[in-house]
Amino acid sequence: MSTNKRAPQTEALRFENVTLEFPGSHRPAVEDVSFHIERGKSVAVIGPSGCGKSTLLNLAAGLLAPSRGRVYYGGEQITAVNSDAAYVTQQSDLLPWLSVRANIGLALKFRKVPKAEREERIAHWIRVVGLTGFEDHYPRELSGGMRKRCAIARALIYNPAIVLMDEPFGPLDAITRLGLQQELLNLWEEQNGTLVFVTHELNEAIYLADEVVVMSEGPGTVRRILPIPFERPRTIGSLIESPEFSELYNDLWSLFKSNAKAFDAA
Ligand SMILES: Nc1ncnc2c1ncn2[C@@H]1O[C@H](COP(=O)(O)OP(=O)(O)O)[C@@H](O)[C@H]1O
Ligand SMILES: [Mg+2]
Repeated sequence: MSTNKRAPQTEALRFENVTLEFPGSHRPAVEDVSFHIERGKSVAVIGPSGCGKSTLLNLAAGLLAPSRGRVYYGGEQITAVNSDAAYVTQQSDLLPWLSVRANIGLALKFRKVPKAEREERIAHWIRVVGLTGFEDHYPRELSGGMRKRCAIARALIYNPAIVLMDEPFGPLDAITRLGLQQELLNLWEEQNGTLVFVTHELNEAIYLADEVVVMSEGPGTVRRILPIPFERPRTIGSLIESPEFSELYNDLWSLFKSNAKAFDAA
């Protein structure tokens, strides 16, 4: 494996023989995971419940440290919270004492973006994620799907270098999900950042990713990394109709099927 100092400009994230054991647990949550993600790429992580997907994102965010092995960001070992990463957690944590507007605008405020620009960008994002009319609501007054949309807007509004998303579209209905998937695709293609997301949806992995990391369980290891060779910009509608789409879908599905537990979770 190459040394990390050599390619910091092109490399976003690298897991090197990463094992994580939670204290008191009898088996590692992830074991000997190695892969890397180039800057500007979009990578989906899929696998059955409990295989360590959220754990990998927590490691990338610097919220957990590996028991063995190393995690690098831009060629530097991650030893503290990764301040380059915007993280949409599985619970889509929002600040409960702030309105939708204030939650979405938080990162801009921290970065001292002038008020007028801040408000314009917040208004744009509120439209993008379909929260018009809820600007002054508090997180407790929103549905799970709305909280998720708010968390997505809060993460993307400041054009972060790397976005980590844990099942970002899980609680959304199919139409909203398709709309947001396309929106995320456009944005990410425009912004040229790095995107790492966890999903249960094979379709979603194919629409959005350049590579799909397929995990297997017990303990969590990387089973296969599948390239998604579609050109960009992508339109979900035209992807669905292409013969390559069904081929890729079948490849992913057979990887899932060959793991009985994955089959249950899919
Ligand atoms: N804080 C924790 N303490 C102990 N065990 C944990 C903790 N978080 C996750 N685990 C365990 O680690 C494994 C991987 O969890 P997780 O990364 O959440 O999986 P996934 O996101 O793929 O569903 C699971 O067996 C889970 O029970
Ligand atoms: Mg999870």
